[in-house]
Amino acid sequence: MFQSDKTMNISRHYLAFNKALNRFLLLTLILFTCQLTMASEGGGQHQKGKYTELEMMKGERLFKGLIPFQEGFKDCASCHYTKTNKEIDWNPSAYDLAVLSREDTAYLSGAISGSRFQGVKGHEEVSLTNKETELVEAYFSKLADHGLKKHKPVPEKTLIFFGTGFLMLLALIELIFLKKIKIKAIPVLVLLVALGFHLKVVSEEAISLGRSENYAPNQPIKFSHKVHVKQNKIDCKYCHTGVDNSQNAGIPSNNLCLNCHNVVREGSNSGTFEINKIHRAAEQEEPIEWKKVHDLPDHVFFSHATHVQNGNLDCAECHGQVEEMHIVEQVEDLSMGWCIECHRETEVDFDNKYYSKNFEELHQKMEEGQIDAVTVDEVGGINCMKCHY
Ligand code: HEC
Ligand code: HEC
Ligand code: HEC
Ligand code: HEC
Ligand code: HEC
Ligand code: HEC
Repeated sequence: MFQSDKTMNISRHYLAFNKALNRFLLLTLILFTCQLTMASEGGGQHQKGKYTELEMMKGERLFKGLIPFQEGFKDCASCHYTKTNKEIDWNPSAYDLAVLSREDTAYLSGAISGSRFQGVKGHEEVSLTNKETELVEAYFSKLADHGLKKHKPVPEKTLIFFGTGFLMLLALIELIFLKKIKIKAIPVLVLLVALGFHLKVVSEEAISLGRSENYAPNQPIKFSHKVHVKQNKIDCKYCHTGVDNSQNAGIPSNNLCLNCHNVVREGSNSGTFEINKIHRAAEQEEPIEWKKVHDLPDHVFFSHATHVQNGNLDCAECHGQVEEMHIVEQVEDLSMGWCIECHRETEVDFDNKYYSKNFEELHQKMEEGQIDAVTVDEVGGINCMKCHY
């Protein structure tokens, strides 16, 4: 009697635990799907203006080839992409065209009837009716406000996360209800391994919150380091003038681009389209709004001059092979561990002006042959106050 009461009790606890766990899993699933749809809908706000929602939708469908143009031409979106991308696509994006159309309402009809337009490979067959042009303009008016959809592949990790979540659920159902498997250790093992994986993922996500390794945003102009540095042999310091003597490397201004692009009016990959953007920005006297790729938190102090000038480090040590990139990507995680690891491993030039005057004790040890090199950590490089305000 007593015995079975106890087992009853235990299984009741199990049930309660199971229920709570299931609720938790369900809730995470719901929150997750909400997030996904919100991210892909871009917030879901509607902008009313000159065009109706229906016109915008029809225009989008024409552009994407979901409904055919009257003359039977193919879609536009196969060349004028509508999502951000990781690999460079030199064609004008749909958003690029939309912005031009917002600035000048006659842009699209003008472009289509122009002779240059017919000269573009792939445009030969394109001719739209007035109504169709208007519908595409309606779509552009929406796109110009919303921007390109973010290209977000579902990461493998997420799939495994939900896969193991499902396994956990199965193991629990087996343990509590079905009890088909004789050897209890099997479902228990499955449960523990899956749970361990979940805890690991959750804690990793929490730690790396806000870090952005592999971040590579699409920029307003397709400025390519590969074209400039590798193919045209322009030095990093010609554009990033701050690296030797200030904290920031600095991003060049329009004027610097124009030093060359007043002459170089056409690129081999992008034609005149991208370079025209530099001229347009200059005419409108607006800076180009480059998106920041690397971004340390405000409480961290980092100086390029210290590392490039004093430390004599190559850009590639921290930024990877930028000269191979069409789109700049952050290759390191910029975590505290990353900074400190390098400070522990890297030797300083101990004979330079600064170090020769300080650190007498270390100099003495070196002369006595006790040590033959000094690393950054030994001269204060892992002192909290050096990196934190
Ligand atoms: C086979 C690929 C392809 C298809 C399909 C295509 N385009 Fe293009 N389009 C291009 C390329 C490439 C350029 C850039 C040419 C340049 O500037 O040298 C371009 C440029 C444009 C321009 C900019 C012209 C300018 O210089 O300002 C407009 C507008 C345009 N396309 C509209 C459309 C529309 C609308 C459709 C669908 C009816 C369409 N395109 C279909 C490849 C394509
Ligand atoms: C012709 C000018 C030019 C040259 C030469 C150049 N850059 Fe850049 N660089 C830019 C511009 C413009 C941006 C901003 C747009 C972008 O991120 O692509 C940039 C961005 C960057 C960024 C990312 C900045 C951020 O937001 O975090 C890094 C890192 C960088 N450059 C490193 C280098 C290195 C290393 C070299 C030499 C191998 C180099 N650059 C040569 C113009 C130049
Ligand atoms: C020192 C000269 C120089 C400077 C400075 C310079 N560029 Fe260029 N740029 C070039 C050359 C050379 C080309 C290659 C043209 C070609 O493809 O033949 C080029 C090509 C381009 C292209 C077209 C790429 C392609 O292959 O279609 C773009 C876009 C561009 N530059 C943007 C910029 C921007 C933005 C800046 C300023 C941040 C800038 N450039 C600064 C020399 C320069
Ligand atoms: C020791 C590592 C390290 C080296 C070496 C290094 N960088 Fe950086 N770089 C960083 C970090 C970290 C950031 C982010 C700084 C921030 O967000 O405050 C950064 C940011 C940048 C930026 C973005 C904007 C800015 O003004 O800071 C550019 C451009 C850049 N680096 C270019 C270069 C170039 C060019 C070189 C080589 C001459 C170079 N870096 C060498 C670590 C490095
Ligand atoms: C690739 C190696 C490397 C990485 C990564 C690196 N550093 Fe350094 N750091 C050095 C070297 C080398 C020096 C010494 C320069 C000198 O000779 O004065 C140094 C010096 C410093 C100093 C000055 C220390 C002193 O004693 O005055 C600070 C502050 C600093 N680094 C901050 C950072 C921060 C913050 C990061 C990460 C965002 C970072 N470093 C990443 C190599 C690195
Ligand atoms: C070589 C440079 C460097 C030194 C030395 C350093 N930090 Fe950091 N610290 C960083 C960087 C970079 C970050 C930002 C990490 C990120 O964004 O993930 C950071 C972040 C932090 C954070 C925020 C939590 C986090 O992980 O993001 C704390 C707290 C912190 N550091 C404390 C310390 C303490 C305490 C010391 C001394 C024992 C110290 N730091 C020494 C570079 C340094």
